[in-house]
Formats: sequence, C-alpha cells, structure tokens
Amino acid sequence: MKLALFLYCSIIFIESVKADLIMVEVYGQPTTTKKVYSSNGKSWNECMAECYYAQSCVAAWKNGSTCYTFDYWLMGPITQTKEINESIVAFKVENKGGECPSGINPPTFGNKNATGSLYIDSDPKIAPVWVHYNIYYTKGSWKLNYKVDRICGEYEYDGFVSHADSTVTCSFVWYNENTGGFTYSEMKETCDEYSYGMAGFKYKEDVAMFEAKKYLVKIKDTRAYVRVDGIRTAACQKTPKTAYCMSEKDPTGRMTPSPFPGLFFYIRTPTMSPKLHISLLFLLLLIPNAQSSGYLEIRLKSPFLLNATVTITEDIYFPTNKRVFNVPLVPDHTRILTNVPVKFHRPGTVLINSGPVDKFGLHFATIRSDRWNTKQMIIAPDEMKLPFTGFRIDVKCDRNWHGPYCDKFCNDNHAKIINRRCTHNATLGCPLMLSGPNCDVPLLQTESTCPCVNHGYCVSEFLNPLDTVDRSICECGVGFEGEHCEEKEYDYADAIQFGMHGGPEKVFTEFFERSSVDNELRYLYH
Ligand SMILES: *[C@@H]1O[C@H](CO)[C@@H](O)[C@H](O)[C@H]1NC(C)=O
Ligand SMILES: *[C@@H]1O[C@H](CO)[C@@H](O)[C@H](O)[C@H]1NC(C)=O
Ligand SMILES: *[C@@H]1O[C@H](CO)[C@@H](O)[C@H](O)[C@H]1NC(C)=O
Ligand SMILES: *[C@@H]1O[C@H](CO)[C@@H](O)[C@H](O)[C@H]1NC(C)=O
Ligand SMILES: *[C@@H]1O[C@H](CO)[C@@H](O)[C@H](O)[C@H]1NC(C)=O
Repeated sequence: MKLALFLYCSIIFIESVKADLIMVEVYGQPTTTKKVYSSNGKSWNECMAECYYAQSCVAAWKNGSTCYTFDYWLMGPITQTKEINESIVAFKVENKGGECPSGINPPTFGNKNATGSLYIDSDPKIAPVWVHYNIYYTKGSWKLNYKVDRICGEYEYDGFVSHADSTVTCSFVWYNENTGGFTYSEMKETCDEYSYGMAGFKYKEDVAMFEAKKYLVKIKDTRAYVRVDGIRTAACQKTPKTAYCMSEKDPTGRMTPSPFPGLFFYIRTPTMSPKLHISLLFLLLLIPNAQSSGYLEIRLKSPFLLNATVTITEDIYFPTNKRVFNVPLVPDHTRILTNVPVKFHRPGTVLINSGPVDKFGLHFATIRSDRWNTKQMIIAPDEMKLPFTGFRIDVKCDRNWHGPYCDKFCNDNHAKIINRRCTHNATLGCPLMLSGPNCDVPLLQTESTCPCVNHGYCVSEFLNPLDTVDRSICECGVGFEGEHCEEKEYDYADAIQFGMHGGPEKVFTEFFERSSVDNELRYLYH
C-alpha cells in the first residue's frame, strides 16, 4: 500500500521563523482534542500556516472542514489512518536535509525516531522557546514527546535563575484581573494548563532570587500580604483560612518536606488578605482593578477582490481570547473593522490573511502585527506588500475615556454643558483655542506663545474642577509625549511582518518581486 507523504512547501519570507521548519502531512487522527484550538472556514493551507507561525503549535489537524491546531502541551498520540478516513495531520518539524526525506510513516521516515527542535522567535522582546520533539512510530500510531527550553526574556519575566546544573528558571508575575490574586486552585489550574511546575524552592539558587523587598515594592495595595508558601500542614489544608492557618504561628509556611531545613519566612504588611496565596516563582500582585475602555480599529485596502480574515488575539506568548473576523474587500475601497474591544497594558496580535489571488498564483498573504503593550497608538508601516495596498491599526479610547491607556474618565458631554472640555489628562479645560477664567481669551498657537513642539498644541487646563485660574499645557499627537511633546513615545508595537505563500509558478515569483507598495493608509486625511 502506498503511504501518503506530502510536504507543505511554501515560500516564506518571515525572518523570525527558522526557514527550515516544515509541515509534514500524514493520514492520521489525534487521540485527544481536549483544549485545542478549532476553527471552521479555514482552508487546510491556512490551517497549517496558522500552526506554522504559532510559537507553541506543533501540529494541525484537518477533520472535515474543521481546522484544529495543537500546542505542545496538549498533544497526545496520533493514530495512523487511511486516505478514505479523510483526516490529515500535519506535524511541524525541522527540515534537516533541505529536501523531503524518503521512507515510510513520515515524519518518522522508516520508523526512526524523529527528533529536532522548533524555534520561532516571533517577538524579539519576549522570551522565545525551543521546543524539542521526539516523535516515534509504534503499532500504528505516532507518539510524541515535547520538551521546552525557555529562554528568559524581559517581557513579563520578573527575573530568572541560572541553576548549577545549567537549567534556568524564569519567574513570572501572574495575577487574576478580577480578583487581583489567584487562589491556590486557580494557580494550579493555570500551571497545569501551561505545563509549568508550581513554584517552589527546588533549587538553592531560587531562594537567593527571592529578594522579598524587590517584590514587595511592586505591591501597591498596602493590605497585601505576601507569604512564601510550601505545602500546608495536613490540618491547615482543610482549614486554610482560619486565623491560625493564616498567621505566622502556622508552620504551613514551611516547605514540607523542605529541601532546605529551617527555611521559612514571611513578608507581611498591615492587614492580611486571605485571597492571596504566594509562592516563589508566581508572585501574585494585588493590582488595583484599573478600569479602562478602548478599542481597536483596523483599516484594509486592496486592488483585488479578497476574502480576507482578521484574527485578533490577546497575549503573544499564549494567545488567548481569539477573535476571527471575515473582512471581504472590494477593489480600492477601504474596509474598516472597528470597535473591537482591547485590554490595555497587555500584549496583543493582529493577523490578517488575504485569502487567494488565483490570477497570480498567490495562495494567501499575511500581515502580522504584534504589540506588546497596548495603549493608544497607531500602527501603520510606510511600505507594504500586495495584495494589500493599505493597512493601518488604531488603538483608540472610547468616549469619555482619556490618557495613553484610556483609563482616565472625564465625561465629555458634561464638560460641554458647562463650557469646558476634557483634556488628554481627563481634567477640565476651556474649549480648544480658548483660555482664561471665563474661557473667553484666545489661546494662540504661535511659536512665541505656545511651547509645544511636534505638532502638539496648547490647551487650557483647570487643575481642579473648581479652580478659577487655568494654565496652558501641551496636548501631544500620538507618538509624542513630555511637557512640550518633545519626547518620542516608546513604540510598543513591533515591526509589521509580511508573509506570502504561493507558487511555484513563475507568475507568483513575478508577483512577489513586484509586490512592494506604499501604504495608502499610512496617513489619514479627514
Ligand atoms: C471529525 O469528523 C467526523 C466526521 O465529520 C465527526 O463525526 C467527528 O466528530 C469529528 N471529530 C472531532 C473531534 O471534531
Ligand atoms: C477509517 O476507515 C476505515 C474504513 O472505512 C474504518 O474501518 C476505520 O475504522 C476508520 N478509522 C478511523 C480512525 O476512523
Ligand atoms: C525513540 O523514542 C522512544 C521514546 O522516547 C525511546 O523509548 C526509544 O528508545 C527511542 N528510540 C531510539 C532508536 O532512539
Ligand atoms: C469569497 O468567498 C465566497 C463565498 O465563500 C466565494 O463565492 C468567492 O468566490 C470568494 N472570493 C474570492 C475572491 O476568493
Ligand atoms: C497630567 O497629570 C499629571 C499628574 O497629575 C501631570 O504631571 C501632567 O503634567 C499632566 N499632563 C498634562 C499634559 O498636563
């Protein structure tokens, strides 16, 4: 019997993906679909590409018209099936020889263990991972082992510890946005989901890292209570919240069994917060539930008829809250996708897929934009690639919300009623171009009267709502900050990545070579 082997070969222009990763397709069926990502209406090529570019994804599965993508922590064995079963699995593996190897049962050609490492550094600012795989074939199924080497970066890592045995521990700060902290079971669930071990003093070096004061200053809520916790004593496991079990008298702060006898310490601020459970590497912070409100607006333009999709996820590292929008484009009309809610202070990703342009042999093209800190911003490159001729993302505040993070409230309507306006700082000021106690003095924007640079403009501000004397402050355009808008704001968005998939016909190569265009939506004229 002939066994299927296809290699998914496509032209890839994304530098952050190791060029020699490939998807290898087999007839097969995963034994588990627990907690995998699934989506309908994607072509199989798009499904594989989604996996290809996702750092944690190691396999994709086509079951009918459903695309499933599997992350390394959710992968079970794959049962080999036949063509008639119409079920295809694509493994993401290294393409070691530079060409398709031969032998039965790919990717374990000739049933040898397939081993290798997957590496996608989709964002240089966050910790990339090496995913080492060992896939082996036995009795009609592929079994998979994945081991992860995490390379600590700056993003969200509070620090890392190099151990004597050359392993590295990265420490995260995680918190629940609703309650501020995690309960023990929430924490366990989270750790299990990402196949992390619960934090603890596994190595002597870890202890040194836990410089209590360093963490303590990060906790803004003075009621916060931090403890370094091990496994509770049997008695306190049953009644963890009694006064005794929450007190220093309770020996539950000790590791049982402790690798370091006698080690046991608490950090305490005035009032205890029973909600908090702190352990070494997962420090939980009581972060005031800052309210903010804003949205994403995405503009796209193309000279072609496209069935584009826009996928928006929160977080880059472990994408969550995925939303997919179909955005059909007609030639030379700007399509706007707007009012997509965003979370501020969080990273996020926008992935645009053009769908095919058959005439040029294009299977699909992608635009990927990662931002690792969401604030008011504009993301619009100067140049881009066909089939799109315009692309722009705006992160904007909802009405009545102001400030870079859209977290300052000032009711615009109420301000208007009393002949005031809300400033960027959410304070009240005179209407634009006016100043003075009665807001009847023209506020000139000339070089000699207004110190704001970089197209910032002078506005009036009453520091307190009842003040009768105002002052002039600068309101900066997006991209600038500082008292006089003299500083360029830090750019929290990464360079836009373009990908193109097609070929191998000449017509596609030619299309690709001529695909650079100016971004028509770089600047918006109202
Ligand atoms: C796979 O497809 C078959 C046939 O359409 C269906 O019965 C089955 O439920 C699907 N399995 C999953 C996990 O989606
Ligand atoms: C694949 O199809 C064959 C023939 O129809 C059937 O006997 C077998 O059970 C199917 N395998 C799976 C995993 O569905
Ligand atoms: C293949 O991997 C399995 C599972 O890790 C292991 O038991 C086996 O020894 C490996 N075989 C070879 C030839 O390395
Ligand atoms: C877009 O999708 C519709 C419906 O699925 C299809 O009829 C049409 O041919 C597609 N257009 C392009 C340009 O792919
Ligand atoms: C906004 O308020 C902060 C603190 O109240 C102040 O330091 C800053 O100067 C204000 N911004 C502007 C543009 O006035």
